[in-house]
Amino acid sequence: MNNGRKKLAIVTLGCQMNKHDSEWIAGLLSDKYDLSDDSENADFLVVNTCAVREKAEQKFFSLIGRLKALKKQNRKMILAVAGCIAQEWAEEIIEKAPDVDLVFGTRSIDKLPLMLEKFGETGLPQVDTSDDSVYDRFPMRRVSKFTAWVSIMRGCDNHCSYCIVPMVRGGEQSRPVDSILEEIKELSEKGYKEVTLLGQNVNSYGMGLSPVVDFPELMARIDAISSIPRLRFVTSHPKDLSDRLVSAMRDIPSLCPSLHLPIQSGSDRILKIMNRGYTADHYFARVEKLKEAVPDITLTSDVIVGFPGETDEDFEATHQAIKRARYDNIFLFKYSPRPGSKALNLKEMVDPVTAQERFDIILEEQKEISFQNHKTWVGKEVSILVDGASKRGENSYAGRTDQNIVVNFSSQKDNSGNFTRVMITEGKRHSLTGVEV
Ligand code: 5AD
Ligand code: SF4
Repeated sequence: MNNGRKKLAIVTLGCQMNKHDSEWIAGLLSDKYDLSDDSENADFLVVNTCAVREKAEQKFFSLIGRLKALKKQNRKMILAVAGCIAQEWAEEIIEKAPDVDLVFGTRSIDKLPLMLEKFGETGLPQVDTSDDSVYDRFPMRRVSKFTAWVSIMRGCDNHCSYCIVPMVRGGEQSRPVDSILEEIKELSEKGYKEVTLLGQNVNSYGMGLSPVVDFPELMARIDAISSIPRLRFVTSHPKDLSDRLVSAMRDIPSLCPSLHLPIQSGSDRILKIMNRGYTADHYFARVEKLKEAVPDITLTSDVIVGFPGETDEDFEATHQAIKRARYDNIFLFKYSPRPGSKALNLKEMVDPVTAQERFDIILEEQKEISFQNHKTWVGKEVSILVDGASKRGENSYAGRTDQNIVVNFSSQKDNSGNFTRVMITEGKRHSLTGVEV
């Protein structure tokens, strides 16, 4: 037996924020629970949910159906729902799914050990979606020994009209600088090779802090105290992409030449209704500046098609923007109406067939652009942080370049967690192929 230690399984849906929070949940319970992939036989199962689009929500509700059956087989299992759906629909979950024992929101994660204790004592369902937790320390239990998420901000004050995030993750809060630096120092001492700073809108980091430390300054301080070779961040809002950030991208040695800069739409009219706070011209002016400062930078983006009232002309502007930006990759979405968001009141819905057509056109365009972009890497030697063995067969490994492009390559040695150099031999739609040199 395992010294009386219990098994914890976590199912994580959604974004990097949730992946981070799941590692935090595991850390909070590490005195009593060992992590397990076996949800069916776990003593404690946490489902960390996402509400950003309807599809993600449906995924959760169908999962809950399956979990009911699981609980019938494994009566003693404690079942918890966490994340954005938990925050928004806690009462409904308890009502509709009586098998759920704990529901905790995006800002109540630190309450989990207490909730679990109370549940153990009373056997009664526990719900906490309060917003009074201190945003400071994270006893993380990380999945990776060499790449790490570090939370620097939570919440969002932007209120893009389609977005549920400000409702389910609350208002913007910056984590204190010292607390971030301490975590970075620890990761650096442990030999971590890559850190991704996380926030809904990292460019506005530090606004509420006293004294104010802005995002470029935070990164300079991180770079100065750590020996972590690669530093990344998500997500950047184009309206707040300052000249100082552009200079930081150029000057901070560990900062990787890749940037996720969601455009959402290429139409100024739609951008305005989306409440994005920039025009397409402003967006591309920032991109030009970035490319001047960091010529080898690659950009990725989020794009929404079928936003209410999107005309053929609006869509064409988005199509042109995709052609102009030549992103390395995009995350493409069809507009999904979200409760509590302003766009919910817009009545001119784009019919689903047109939305699908537009989706397919952008998808095809981007496929070709990614393919063309990736072909330009052939014959170049790149530095790769090796993620691990790939499923492609013996001696096959996968890693990522400084630009965050996936490279599949062959090697005689498992260099997982280390850097190696690879000669690129082929460019594909989603990845590059190469051989170790
Ligand atoms: N419908 C479609 N896409 C959305 N996103 C956020 N909310 C919605 C919505 N209601 C997309 C945006 C955002 C990404 C995380 O998800 O593109 O940048
Ligand atoms: Fe949502 Fe906009 Fe905030 Fe991103 S910036 S989380 S899209 S409100």
